[in-house]
Amino acid sequence: MSTLLARQPQITTGDDVAAALHVAIIMDGNGRWAQKRGLPRTMGHYYGAEAARKVVRAAGELGVTHLTLFGFSSENWRRPKPEIDYLMSLLRGYLRKDVASLHENRVRLKVIGDRAGLPADIATLIGEAEALTAANDGLNLTIALNYGGRADIVAGVRQLAQEVAAGRLDPAMIDEASVGAALPSAALPDPDLLIRTSGEQRVSNFLLWQLAYTEMLFVERYWPDFSGEDLKAALAEFSHRDRRFGGAVSR
Ligand code: IPE
Ligand code: IPE
Ligand code: MG
Repeated sequence: MSTLLARQPQITTGDDVAAALHVAIIMDGNGRWAQKRGLPRTMGHYYGAEAARKVVRAAGELGVTHLTLFGFSSENWRRPKPEIDYLMSLLRGYLRKDVASLHENRVRLKVIGDRAGLPADIATLIGEAEALTAANDGLNLTIALNYGGRADIVAGVRQLAQEVAAGRLDPAMIDEASVGAALPSAALPDPDLLIRTSGEQRVSNFLLWQLAYTEMLFVERYWPDFSGEDLKAALAEFSHRDRRFGGAVSR
């Protein structure tokens, strides 16, 4: 019981959050935001990146300890090449220009997903940003890039299978903790709250293992319009949720 309670973040009624709080966001609706304005979809991504900058800043101020953003899925390669190229150039710009200020603000940046499948210079920039910010003690910012929840689980299963094949692991010893620890995303705690913008109500292959007991919040607003105020409102809504983790109703 005590471990379950310990996993529940304690939110006070004001702006501040006392305990660990992990918010994951599926930043969706960039394309529709742009189309609604008669702009190319890429402009939606440009303003989407601006929204992400603002939300990262607000998250730190609101006491969020872990923020995980879905930036590019392993299925997003199905998009037209010019759109993919634009997204990669935005990412390159973010890694080149924003990391210094993240570091100044003590943000610890990590990336999950298959970075070997990203352009090589981006994979290098990611490694450099992670190394630079590794010892920081502020917001834990994770960006999911070329990430798929199923691929993450497959990689973990393959790793355990190799241990078994090498005679180092007894299959009977495989449990939830060892599977979770074998995932490439193992360092990530389970999210407390998942926000998806743009009115879509699906998980789209994000953090499948970690979302087991995550609270979900679907908001109509397109991602480029999502602000620090919206994050604050989402946290207020979350603070009224009754998390049970399979236990009895507590109130
Ligand atoms: C989210 O916005 C950004 C990425 C998936 C990279 P979309 O590009 O999916 O926007 P919609 O859903 O088409 O409006
Ligand atoms: C999920 O959004 C991926 C990201 C936000 C990076 P998508 O727009 O790719 O998801 P679907 O295709 O609508 O499910
Ligand atoms: Mg979308």
